[in-house]
Amino acid sequence: MPMGFRQAFGCRVAVIVDCFEVFIERPSNLLARAQTWSNYKHHHTVTFLIGVAPQGYVTYISCAWRGRVSDKQITIQSGLLKNLLPGDIVLADRGFDIGDSVGFYCASLKMPAFTRGKSQLSAYEVEETRKIANVRIRVERVIGLVRRKYQILQSRAVPIEHMLTKPGEALALIDKIGVICCALSNLSVSVVPLE
Ligand SMILES: *[C@@H]1O[C@H](CO)[C@@H](O)[C@H](O)[C@H]1NC(C)=O
Repeated sequence: MPMGFRQAFGCRVAVIVDCFEVFIERPSNLLARAQTWSNYKHHHTVTFLIGVAPQGYVTYISCAWRGRVSDKQITIQSGLLKNLLPGDIVLADRGFDIGDSVGFYCASLKMPAFTRGKSQLSAYEVEETRKIANVRIRVERVIGLVRRKYQILQSRAVPIEHMLTKPGEALALIDKIGVICCALSNLSVSVVPLE
């Protein structure tokens, strides 16, 4: 366990989760077009959920979610949480309102505190948020690395054919691309120092 994590959370952080979107071609089908439109990115997108271990390895990558779906829904429906063990800590960013689902596995969720609806954070919340930010930043580098290193994930428009699952296959090409990019990132020298 890298020292930063150990000091903040002991050896309990099992995974840091985040989602990223990949631009896809504009679907010709109207429904698909509406479903893949991302208000946030102003583009048609698919979304991947990624889980990174404190040591900097990608330990989970979901398939590419088509359609408008929240980070919370993807995390709950993808099955990632089934891998949790009692006592584990999951680190997530704001928006991953998954505390109840994580609690179901007797694990706990740590998320930066919100200021919304409050005039100020308590000293405890400020300290917790600082600790989370400190360790999350390193893992965000892993996620950034996966995305920047592999041009295919930054394409302005992944072809629509890549979204289709061929008969007899479990995954579409876009799903396989996600897995391969993460596996390759695992083989590179970790960007997270272990000191
Ligand atoms: C990355 O490496 C970890 C640790 O060896 C392994 O558990 C995980 O399955 C690998 N991820 C991928 C996408 O191959």
